[in-house]
Order: sequence, then C-alpha cells, then structure tokens
Amino acid sequence: MSLRTRICDIFEIEYPIALAGMGGASTPALAAAVSNAGGLGILGAAACSPEMLRRWIREVRELTDKPFGVDTLLPASVRRETFKQADGPSPAELIPEYQKFAAEFMEVEKLTKASMQEMAREVGIDPNEKSGPPMFSKEFFNAQMDVIVEERVPVYAAGLGNPGPWMDRFRKNGTKVMAVVGAVRHARQVAASGIDVIVAQGHDGGGHNSPVGTMALIPQVVDAVGGIAVLGAGGISDGRGVAAAMMLGAEGAWVGSAFLATEEAGILDFQKQAIVDSNEENTTVSRSVTGKPARVIKSKWSQAWVDGPLEPLPMPFQPMIAMPVLAAASAAKRGDIAPGFAGQGIGMIDAVRPAKDVLASLVAGAEKALEGAARKT
Ligand SMILES: Cc1cc2nc3c(=O)[nH]c(=O)nc-3n(C[C@H](O)[C@H](O)[C@H](O)COP(=O)(O)O)c2cc1C
Repeated sequence: MSLRTRICDIFEIEYPIALAGMGGASTPALAAAVSNAGGLGILGAAACSPEMLRRWIREVRELTDKPFGVDTLLPASVRRETFKQADGPSPAELIPEYQKFAAEFMEVEKLTKASMQEMAREVGIDPNEKSGPPMFSKEFFNAQMDVIVEERVPVYAAGLGNPGPWMDRFRKNGTKVMAVVGAVRHARQVAASGIDVIVAQGHDGGGHNSPVGTMALIPQVVDAVGGIAVLGAGGISDGRGVAAAMMLGAEGAWVGSAFLATEEAGILDFQKQAIVDSNEENTTVSRSVTGKPARVIKSKWSQAWVDGPLEPLPMPFQPMIAMPVLAAASAAKRGDIAPGFAGQGIGMIDAVRPAKDVLASLVAGAEKALEGAARKT
C-alpha cells in the first residue's frame, strides 16, 4: 500500500509527511534531511531575524534541491494581549515583581546568570548580527515575509494567524501556502483566504496548541473546509498516528516531537535525552514560557507557576521573565528546568536517530497500519 495522497502532488514530495516548523529545532540541517528523505522539511523560523532567515533559506538550498518550507508567526496573532486583571496594574508595571520571583527561583536552583551568547541561543537569534526591527514587532514580521517572498520559497506555513494578505505575492511566485489551526472557526478563516493546505493541530501537540484534542479536531476541520487538503497534527509520533490522521480525513501529517530526538534537530543534547526519557504523562500545558498555552515537558520551572503565587504574564511579557532563567538552565544542561516543548507522543520515542530513519519509520508504520485496517474491514 502506498502512502501517496494529494499532499504529495501539491508540494511535489514523495510522502505526505511534513516536519513541523519548530522554533530552535527545525533548522536548515533538519529541514533538509526531511526533504531529502522524501517528506517536506519546514524551517521553524518564527524568531529568525530577516537576515538570519535569508541565510537559513540559502543554507537549506545548499543542502537539498527538494521542496522545503518556512514557518513563521503572523503579526495579528502576536498582538499584545490584554491582561486578565482589567483594573489592576499593567503587565509592564508587574515586571519587577516577576523578575524578583525569577531571581529567587535561580538562587534556589543555584543557577548563574547566562551570558549574552547563551541568552541569544535560548531565544534563537544570532548574537553577532547587527540589530534589525525589534523581535515580534509588526516591522519584524513584515520584514520576514518580504524575505520569504524575495527568496521565492516553495512553501510558506503560518504557525499562527492568517496569511491572506500575502496570498497575491505568494501566488505570483508559485509558493504553496499552509496555515496551522486549532479550531474550526480558524480553519474557515484561512480557507476563505484561498490557502492550499490546512494543518489541524490538536491539544496533544507540542508547543502552542489547541484546547481541542487531535482526534476530535481533525475530522471537524476536514468537514468545514470544503475539500481543502488537511494535515493532521498533535501527538503523532509514529506511523499509526499518521494512519489514524488519514482515517479521520486528513491526507497526511505535520509531525514535530518525533523529529526532536534526531541527530539533526537544533535543540541541545540534554533536551533530546529528556524526550527519550519521558513518557506520555510527562508533559503539561503551561503559560510559563511564552505567556500563551504551550505544551512543555514538565519541569521545575513549569511547576513553579503552578505552586507559586503568580499567574504567568501574557505574551510578550512572560518571555522576558522566562528566557533569562531558561538560558541559564540550558547553559547548565539542566533537563529538570529547561527540557523544552514537546507533545504527548514522546512516550513512543526511545532513541536519538537520524531524521531520515524517523521519516522512514513513520512511512512504513503508516503503510502497515493502513493495510492492517483494510484487512479488518
Ligand atoms: C520544540 C517545539 C517548538 C515549536 N515551535 C513552533 C514554532 O516556532 N512555530 C509553530 O508554528 N509551531 C511550533 N511548534 C508546534 C509544531 O509546529 C507542531 O504543531 C507540533 O509539534 C505538533 O505536535 P507534536 O509535537 O506532538 O508532533 C513547536 C513544537 C515544538 C515541540
């Protein structure tokens, strides 16, 4: 049984499996490895400065002549959220109190302040680069999009938000466009913008995710988008998950965590080990890192926000508190504090492998599961 679906024709790839855009992890080396193996490698470029993004795109092109994509976030989705305490102090006014909390945490954990290089690494920026527009400002996002258009990338993926305003420019370049959604109403919005593929990412997934479980989300998105091809995502870490997404009406999968424990992934070795060591109960959804609900491997840092007196600040304020702590913990290789984002499928991952082997297992496992299901009917 062949895994070929419409997704393969849309993106001109062999297998309908995309490497999820994962900030810090989906680097040129990993994206190229997945594309070379017949999937679709997607750069996790949300935090890349425009200059760094252009370098990354050119680097992937050096490493593969196959199609690849770029994932970023879009301006409207990262606007400054209102803090719940409508009559209380603004998030900016609260920062000193939160910094004190973070400093106390560092003292208890015996963490020493990270260097500028270590901080840059944690945020995913190049410390030697001349400064451009402030990160996550509207100018920053627009400059990223200009680079993506100028470099005529084969595929663009909006990790959050609607790529509608850029569709004309993408169409002129022949760029295929996808968007990640976590609810039917978002799926309808991006479908109305005329995009090519929708990624339905459910609650099981690593990083920012949806309150709706993957199993329930995929078929409802498929039914709502009038025949646009859908990739399932969230907790899909082996071939059975890919097959299940297809049973639910998706035409392939967008896979993140399974590619974290690979030789090529851009995360640190102790973080790869944390994935290998974790089981299905070891993740939690927490606002402690970015300010938005994101699935992380449970850590002393995520727990401090459950046990402690403070509610995490909204994006973009919480990262100002979290990043110095996580950078210091990463520098100290503290898997108990900075193990990173991951989905609930990590219990299925038991070794660090080359990315091409992970892709091959996903394909073979999906084919086997689909054959097994066909035999049962
Ligand atoms: C380490 C990590 C970083 C992520 N960073 C991003 C990101 O920068 N942009 C984005 O659109 N999604 C991001 N995600 C979400 C993934 O794109 C994807 O939807 C998710 O990993 C799918 O669930 P899975 O990990 O269970 O496969 C991230 C996920 C992980 C695990």
